[in-house]
Amino acid sequence: MTKICCIGAGYVGGPTMAMIARQCQDVQVTVVDINADRIAAWQTDDLPIYEPGLLEVVKEARGRNLFFSTDVDQGIRDADIVFVSVNTPTKTFGEGAGCASDLQYWELCARRIKEVSTSDKIIVEKSTLPVRTAEAMERVLHAGHNPVHFEVLSNPEFLAEGTAMEDLEAPDRVLIGGHETPSGQKALQTLADIYATWVPRDRILTTNLWSSELSKLTANAFLAQRVSSINAISALCEATEADVGEVARAIGTDSRIGPKFLKASIGFGGSCFKKDILNLVYLCESYGLKEPAEYWRQVVALNEYQETRFVKTMLHSMFNTIANKRIAVFGFAFKADTGDTRESPSIKVCRELASEHARIVVSDPQAIDNARKDLTDIDGSVEFELDPYKAAEGAHAIAILTDWKEYRDLDYQRIFDGMQKPAFLFDGRNMLDHDALYEIGFEVYSIGKGKKSHLN
Ligand code: NAD
Ligand code: UGA
Repeated sequence: MTKICCIGAGYVGGPTMAMIARQCQDVQVTVVDINADRIAAWQTDDLPIYEPGLLEVVKEARGRNLFFSTDVDQGIRDADIVFVSVNTPTKTFGEGAGCASDLQYWELCARRIKEVSTSDKIIVEKSTLPVRTAEAMERVLHAGHNPVHFEVLSNPEFLAEGTAMEDLEAPDRVLIGGHETPSGQKALQTLADIYATWVPRDRILTTNLWSSELSKLTANAFLAQRVSSINAISALCEATEADVGEVARAIGTDSRIGPKFLKASIGFGGSCFKKDILNLVYLCESYGLKEPAEYWRQVVALNEYQETRFVKTMLHSMFNTIANKRIAVFGFAFKADTGDTRESPSIKVCRELASEHARIVVSDPQAIDNARKDLTDIDGSVEFELDPYKAAEGAHAIAILTDWKEYRDLDYQRIFDGMQKPAFLFDGRNMLDHDALYEIGFEVYSIGKGKKSHLN
């Protein structure tokens, strides 16, 4: 039986390993992490991350061929294949601070793998890493005298949070990069065979190592670039009475453009888009490619502009003062169906509202605990309220910041009745029926569409 160890029990390590264990009963999977609380939570029904469908898959495989442990060394030692799925955040110090990836976590893993391994292993980069990291990893793994052979593969993960289990069960593609040597190709086939237990062979793409590493950064950069492109157009729509939804539909029906990732919003969030684009910028700069670096940097700059523009719209439409006004924020997660708030646009929006001395009430079905931690610096200006009706009680305005389906189904007449008048609603996700809200009496503002106002 093939033994797999995954280092890192986070948003990627947990769900991907649960899916492998569920689909491929010929392997034994152990997920290890230095975070004992996380490992403990993976062993209960109160998992450390919220992801629709995840608990069912975990429960099916846990104790059968899926295990969670804090014994990192033992996990590595026993394994034939070691996935490295640790975090690779943006560096906050030294050279490349604010742009380059902080590579200390994967390097620690590589050193640990070298230290404790007594048999040959396939090492799989699951984390998102700068192109040519595998080369550095191989140097660490094979430094000095070491009779053990490690074959490094790149197998980036493309799951999106909120739909992780669907994405893992029926991926558009699985990408595996390996060396074009006999041992590289053999390792690549071993991993491909595991995925092939449930993924059609023609969806398993194989490339060289560097193409695979770079494809992951490129995919995220292209996705984020689409969001920034439509958000740039949303600003022009607001100035010209064009409707960004109509523009998106019109261009999305061109099969060369396609309809996905054209939803204008307050901006993209999540732990990866910004980090991965900035990593790409840093890589371009490191290779002396100034213009490509500037091109990609602009995708992040536009995103920041969009977040700030949203707060300015709120301020200007509410008579240029929101001091002491109660503002109900509906949604704090960076997207629906997750409790993850990393790089959520809501963080910046709340901070900017607080700097205008607004009284903020944050509501979210899954992300309140994370929101509390994210907003400690402005905790004097923020309350947290799970119930959106209570959050909106007495409020001057509602700001919809996450596209939770729940917000579509609320009784907005009841909400309106309990609010200060004029009652403002800022739909940062363009997800509500704006005509119906206007009929109720709301002052309605959205992204890239004209306002609907009873004033003047
Ligand atoms: P995460 O922070 O949720 O999880 C990483 C885990 O690694 C943590 O639990 C941490 O304790 C553990 N860890 C760190 N160093 C360790 C060590 N030396 N030994 C053992 N455990 C260690 O991160 P994530 O969101 O799962 O992302 C992991 C990687 O996957 C990143 O490179 C990210 O860019 C990439 N990625 C993330 C997503 C996503 O949706 N979150 C999707 C695709 C790819
Ligand atoms: C993204 C990619 O979609 C995954 O393929 C990738 O694996 C992952 O990053 C990663 O590397 O971490 P994720 O960040 O989980 O996944 O979620 P997305 O669905 O991509 O949404 C990202 C952000 O863009 C969200 O804030 C979302 O609300 C926003 N978005 C998305 C828009 O504003 N408009 C859109 O049309 C689409």
